[in-house]
Amino acid sequence: MTIKGRVFSGARPTGRQHLGNYLGAIKNYVALQDDYDCIYCIVDIHALTTVETTEDLKENIYEMALDWLAAGIRPEDSIVFIQSHVPYVMEMHTLLSMVTPLGKLTELPTFKEKIKQNPNNVNYGLVGYPVLMTADIVLYKADTVPVGVDQAPHLEFAREIVRSFNYRYGTKVLIEPKVKHTEVLKVLGIDGKKKMSKSLDNHIELAATPEETDKRVMQMLTDPQRVRREDPGDPDVCNVFSMHKIFSPKDEIEMINTECRRAGIGCVDCKKRFSANLNKHLEPFRAKRAEIEKSPDSVWDILRDGAKRANAIAKDVIEETRAAIGLPE
Ligand code: TRP
Repeated sequence: MTIKGRVFSGARPTGRQHLGNYLGAIKNYVALQDDYDCIYCIVDIHALTTVETTEDLKENIYEMALDWLAAGIRPEDSIVFIQSHVPYVMEMHTLLSMVTPLGKLTELPTFKEKIKQNPNNVNYGLVGYPVLMTADIVLYKADTVPVGVDQAPHLEFAREIVRSFNYRYGTKVLIEPKVKHTEVLKVLGIDGKKKMSKSLDNHIELAATPEETDKRVMQMLTDPQRVRREDPGDPDVCNVFSMHKIFSPKDEIEMINTECRRAGIGCVDCKKRFSANLNKHLEPFRAKRAEIEKSPDSVWDILRDGAKRANAIAKDVIEETRAAIGLPE
């Protein structure tokens, strides 16, 4: 028997998940469970770096966890938990901060972007964001971290922090995590221009009703050059077609690809077909979600149980880390 590697990934609590979250992360989280021991964390402390209010925090955690579970994350195999339920991570963050060069933190593209977006809230936590992320990973001795392109510099930085920690204290306690590049599907929003995101309100929620889904899909931008029904379209620049390629049967994709180019099929029909296929694809997800929702406490129970298991791992690692530094027992 080979020992499985350990995956860690975190995501900020953004409430109900959308197609972009699903194709960019959740689908991959589910698949990784077959080959790795997986730990999936809802990073509520990271969220505090940018949130204006915590009014919806608990609700957002609950809705996201519910979507993860309905999508096929198996709490009996994987650990699913809330970051703040394992306070050791704050200690690890502080210990790591002593070997982290400040100049590099403020040079990271993600940091620069955030201060541009939010010039009035450049807080200390924001600077330490990648250090807390590194703490997440090393606290559970994860060796593999699935990330998209936007998080890749953070992971590279995490590896540097680990190396300088181990070097400074002459130890090997911390594991340098490997990046597992996920097939990055950049999912565009219904505007067909920007990345799908809740804050831009250009998203399609997984948990929407079929009717709501139809409505959203009807608002999707298609080939902007195609103005009238009788104009031929170009599927290669159409966001609806790129979705068909993911959710529709092969013969239907081929049919649309041919017919759109000779105006044999119109955008309305094409969207109706996509929406029907999407709704069909999401049927089992929605059924499972409704089932879990009948006992909302079960979601919190799963998260608390995950925290218990996570704490047990973290406790050992923190003790080893303190010892490696030379802190008194
Ligand atoms: N930084 C990630 C994001 O903004 C979330 C995150 C926190 C994370 N800790 C992590 C991702 C550890 C991977 C590993 O989306």
